[in-house]
Amino acid sequence: MSPLKQHISQILEQVQQMQAQNMDELEALRIKYMSKKGEIASLFSEFRDVAADEKKDLGMQLNELKNAAQERFDQIKEQLTAMREQQDKQDLTRTPDPIELGTRHPLSLVKEKIIDIFGRMGFTVAEGPEIEDDNHVFGLLNFAPEHPARDMQDTFFIDKQKGVQSPDDVLLRTHTSSVQTRVMLSQKPPIRVLCPGRVYRNEAISARAHCFFHQIEGLYIDRNVSFADLRQAMLYFAQEMFGHDTKIRLRPSYFPFTEPSAEMDISCNICGGVGCGFCKHTGWVEILGCGMVDPNVLEACGIDSKQYTGYAFGLGVERIANLKFRVKDLRLFSENDIRFLKQFESA
Ligand code: DAH
Repeated sequence: MSPLKQHISQILEQVQQMQAQNMDELEALRIKYMSKKGEIASLFSEFRDVAADEKKDLGMQLNELKNAAQERFDQIKEQLTAMREQQDKQDLTRTPDPIELGTRHPLSLVKEKIIDIFGRMGFTVAEGPEIEDDNHVFGLLNFAPEHPARDMQDTFFIDKQKGVQSPDDVLLRTHTSSVQTRVMLSQKPPIRVLCPGRVYRNEAISARAHCFFHQIEGLYIDRNVSFADLRQAMLYFAQEMFGHDTKIRLRPSYFPFTEPSAEMDISCNICGGVGCGFCKHTGWVEILGCGMVDPNVLEACGIDSKQYTGYAFGLGVERIANLKFRVKDLRLFSENDIRFLKQFESA
């Protein structure tokens, strides 16, 4: 094949594939290929020097190229004109498509409801860091040095001295009780705070456990705070949260930072206390831990335990959300599946 013939077919291929998004781009293509100084014109000038016996064939090819370029150019121009007409017809005053509103996360709904209920009893919100040290999470809260909660199996350590346990070990807080210590160290009684937040534990993720979840801690310290005050506050909370027929039951328990300590059950809000699969036919479900702040904790945090007493409680937000919304799989709370989240639009 002669070099000119090859060149013509190359340009033909390019011309057939011309594309333009707007008239300016189309004009640039016209200049490149079809103007007086364009590719096709220069092929025509090369054509003048071609041997006579090749002229007929190459002449025909050149004319075909010229026509193909014009045809593609006209085609693009027509498309662009039609597009512009279409755009001109659009009604710019038309109301836009509705913006889809997001929904409140069920854990936020529950958290805010709890804050609202305790807010009516005078509690304000206090927050603290998720990355904590051993002293604020365990030491000041009367955990013995060898307490199993300090174990690597439960706690995610960020910076830990090997073998020995130190108050400066850095870790992800395993409970929001750490915020209690920060509040006591920085405020004078009377103290009445609610400490919501995320906590972390080294657990395998399943439908019933996660390596992070949410707690709300409550702390009330003043002169003459008694176990009866604790019980009354817990009853008010349970009835505001789960309905006015709800009963509570306090069972003796143990936490290093409270003495006496209790675990609180509410009458099962699913069967009304008669007994069902959810409450394992006992009529009761456990919802939180609580107790009178241990004098050791008060003293460690600089509060005179002879003058002041207090109560504390800690609850899991996911647990309350499960009871309210009957979510069977804990993982749903953190998977961000829109089909799950949308169900709480009107909650
Ligand atoms: N910190 C406890 C936990 O994570 C919950 C708790 C129980 C907090 C009793 C309290 C309390 O303040 O009094 O399991």
